Amino acid sequence: MSHYQTGPVGVEIAGIGTAVPDNVVTNADLEKVMDTSDEWIRQRTGIEQRHRIRSDQGESVKHLAHDAVLRALDAAGMKADELDLIVLSTMSSEMTCPPTACRLAAEIGTKNAGAFDLSAACCGFVFGLNTAYGLMQTGQYKNVALIGADTLTNIVEYSTKGRNGAILFGDAAGAVILRKTPDSDKGLIAQTMHSDGERWNDLYIPETKFDFHEGDTFDEWQLGKLHMNGHSVFKFAVGTFPLVIEQTLERAGLSADDVDHFICHQSNRRILDAARNRFGLAEEKFHINIQRYANTVAASVPLVLNDLVTADRVKPGQRVMFVGFGGGLTWGTSLWQL
Ligand code: COA
Repeated sequence: MSHYQTGPVGVEIAGIGTAVPDNVVTNADLEKVMDTSDEWIRQRTGIEQRHRIRSDQGESVKHLAHDAVLRALDAAGMKADELDLIVLSTMSSEMTCPPTACRLAAEIGTKNAGAFDLSAACCGFVFGLNTAYGLMQTGQYKNVALIGADTLTNIVEYSTKGRNGAILFGDAAGAVILRKTPDSDKGLIAQTMHSDGERWNDLYIPETKFDFHEGDTFDEWQLGKLHMNGHSVFKFAVGTFPLVIEQTLERAGLSADDVDHFICHQSNRRILDAARNRFGLAEEKFHINIQRYANTVAASVPLVLNDLVTADRVKPGQRVMFVGFGGGLTWGTSLWQL
């Protein structure tokens, strides 16, 4: 006999918390170490500054995730030992083994809650929402911490030869506590998850010379560094973004007007503007904070959600669509009724 819950389990976003390193790197700081300019970066990406961990002093993705999840627990009025599961979405795990989520769980004192890292690049948080919600539908997980955290400044090259990565990325973490609620209207309405592994080489981190795509020239300095085909990613994002939003609305039987907030991965202001214009959405519904944080990979979506919560713009009963796209290539959505 199955012990799984049979009806839909209501899930609420009970608390949110974020963390960014104190160390701020402005565009002017980058001008000092590479051939670029504040004007160029603002114009092409909308970015004004990013936060960068001090890895030489031992700071890592775990420290950011730790602060973010404790703040989220505090906002939810919960203690760490009430968590049944921790999902850490990241492409910056400290080591391949153990999963960083396990050390994080031990540090915050979850008393043996399940814990794993989820690797889906910039889609990490959105795929994490869909995964955690699905697990909660079994009725066996009541309180789940989902954290999106990344530290890509460790794997971009801070010089002219690596400037397209250096200007784009910043470090951050954002966490939410997903809690079972008796109100079964709350939770996920529709979702999508897609990938196209044929285009893996648009964004990758070669570890050995054999990892280089046949179209890319092997270069020693690129080992362990992000390799990105900026033009190709740009075209992919601008094209895919509207399609995946449309597909989700169709699955939900809703129109864009029925959604109160679109919270999208912050990759580049021009990509986001193109998607917003396509749907004729008001700026108040389609949020952009890339100017302050740059592209923080799995953390970018919760950073935007946190801005809205802090500004008291997120209300019970609203519908929110979370959208991600990035390395893999991957793209997907998670549409929630709050
Ligand atoms: N600073 C100053 N000048 C730069 C520069 C930089 N960081 N990077 C490129 N340039 C110059 C180039 O030399 C070129 O000059 P030229 O016209 O005299 O030859 C010009 O700017 C245009 O270069 P290009 O590579 O075509 O820039 P772009 O408009 O494609 O912008 C990115 C580059 C990386 C900002 C852009 O491609 C992008 O944002 N792509 C998407 C990346 C992304 O979102 N990745 C994460 C996905 S989750």
